Amino acid sequence: MHKIIYNSKKMGPLALFFYCFSLFVLSTCAEISNKIGINYGQLGNNLPSKYDSIQFIKSMKAGRVKIYDANPEILKLLSGTKLQVSIMVPNHEIISIASQQSTADQWVQNNVLAYYPQTMIRFILVGNEVLSSPDKKIWHHLVPAMRRIKNSLSAQNIRNIKVGTPLAMDIFQATYPPSNGIFRSDISDSVMIPLLQFLNHTRSFFFIDVYPYFPWSANPTITGLDYALFRATSNYTDPVSGLIYTNMLDQMLDSLVFAMARLGFSNIRIVIAETGWPNAGDIDEVGANTYNAATYNRNLIKRMTTKPALGTPARPGLVIPTFIFSLYDENQKTGRGTERHWGLLHPSGRPIYDMDITGKRPLSDYKPLPVAHNNEPYKGKVWCVVAKGVDLMELGRALTYACGEGNETCAALAPGRECYEPLSVFWHASFAFSSYWAQFQTKGGICYFNGLAQQTTINPSRGRCKFPSVTL
Ligand SMILES: *[C@@H]1O[C@H](CO)[C@@H](O)[C@H](O)[C@H]1NC(C)=O
Ligand SMILES: *[C@@H]1O[C@H](CO)[C@@H](O)[C@H](O)[C@H]1NC(C)=O
Ligand SMILES: *[C@@H]1O[C@H](CO)[C@@H](O)[C@H](O)[C@H]1NC(C)=O
Repeated sequence: MHKIIYNSKKMGPLALFFYCFSLFVLSTCAEISNKIGINYGQLGNNLPSKYDSIQFIKSMKAGRVKIYDANPEILKLLSGTKLQVSIMVPNHEIISIASQQSTADQWVQNNVLAYYPQTMIRFILVGNEVLSSPDKKIWHHLVPAMRRIKNSLSAQNIRNIKVGTPLAMDIFQATYPPSNGIFRSDISDSVMIPLLQFLNHTRSFFFIDVYPYFPWSANPTITGLDYALFRATSNYTDPVSGLIYTNMLDQMLDSLVFAMARLGFSNIRIVIAETGWPNAGDIDEVGANTYNAATYNRNLIKRMTTKPALGTPARPGLVIPTFIFSLYDENQKTGRGTERHWGLLHPSGRPIYDMDITGKRPLSDYKPLPVAHNNEPYKGKVWCVVAKGVDLMELGRALTYACGEGNETCAALAPGRECYEPLSVFWHASFAFSSYWAQFQTKGGICYFNGLAQQTTINPSRGRCKFPSVTL
């Protein structure tokens, strides 16, 4: 089946050139470099200045940088650098841009023309994971907004900026086996077809956020871990296409290739808008550690910078521009512990683990990594207690909230009861968090409380006061 879609034999450089030429005007083709990009997210209150951050990105020798807005200071700092830049239209501006060309023109005026061409803006991404948003109203404005932005660029005669939109893996109804890749039925006709038409017509890219960490961690096995970290010794043959897979990333990317082909689009190139691996996480999150993060990212970079390009089994030989997520750990992201630990650098600029982003350093050249202790799911009791260094005022509010949820969550804290400790908000909050989490964990409740809480395997109970726990 793949042979109809793509020629599966490896292409030499000359063939690749003509192939490339047939798909793209030369200017576009020449631009597809295999240099690794970095996502520069800024949801942290302990991050270095924008100036220092751009210096770090430059000294890492990244080829591209992607930001989640069009921050004026960053775009000025990038002026005159060799970094190719990806900027973003925030989700909340999509509807107004979709409804009026003048709004799009103004956006391009303020956020592109003010810096271009000195700042090498190459991608404008309209929204972030829009089709994962529960706000369905915005879905149908996505492609119209992209068209408006493209019109504004065309009116200015700008041809080397591509307009796209990064989507997450939840756009699929099925991804397994890859030849079975198919988009969700609620978006297929209404959003995906117009989107693919737009991308095909404008020779833009399909931007996908693709994390082998998520499917692996949902169903962790050690062989699966090797497959996710690009070091499997066995491989997987897609029973329908006959294509042979050696890693999970290729498998996920090809499910996109097949889903697009199913709708008649076989030539839209892919950009990995985000990928990476968490360097830490909560106790009940498996495999989030620096060993795996370093292994994933180093092997990813090796693959993506190999010349001639490896591509994927369904698209051998094609360069896949790749942005790693993320420059820093971002401590103001909400949700599970892993969310705050995708970074490559500490706030000081020191690497969390050694990594050559150019892909030139041999893998054998790195020093040994710290041993991973959580590659198998943790089994045992876990409590949810107050994190270190938190604000007392905020803690009071979280305590009130936790005690207001569930059945008798804080009954043991009443005066005279076994856990009552006058004057200790910390103790009471730790009890309340554990009690809350014990009731709600199976219903999707998490031990987070705006960063005030953390998981522990050390039983905080004292005397007659028994803290409720979650058993993993
Ligand atoms: C995609 O674009 C190419 C080149 O413009 C065109 O020939 C082809 O028909 C388009 N494919 C679809 C499915 O619209
Ligand atoms: C897949 O695995 C088989 C059996 O181990 C091996 O003979 C073959 O060379 C592998 N193919 C690839 C593409 O890795
Ligand atoms: C609270 O108790 C009611 C009645 O026993 C039960 O249906 C409900 O699931 C309980 N809620 C929680 C959070 O445990």
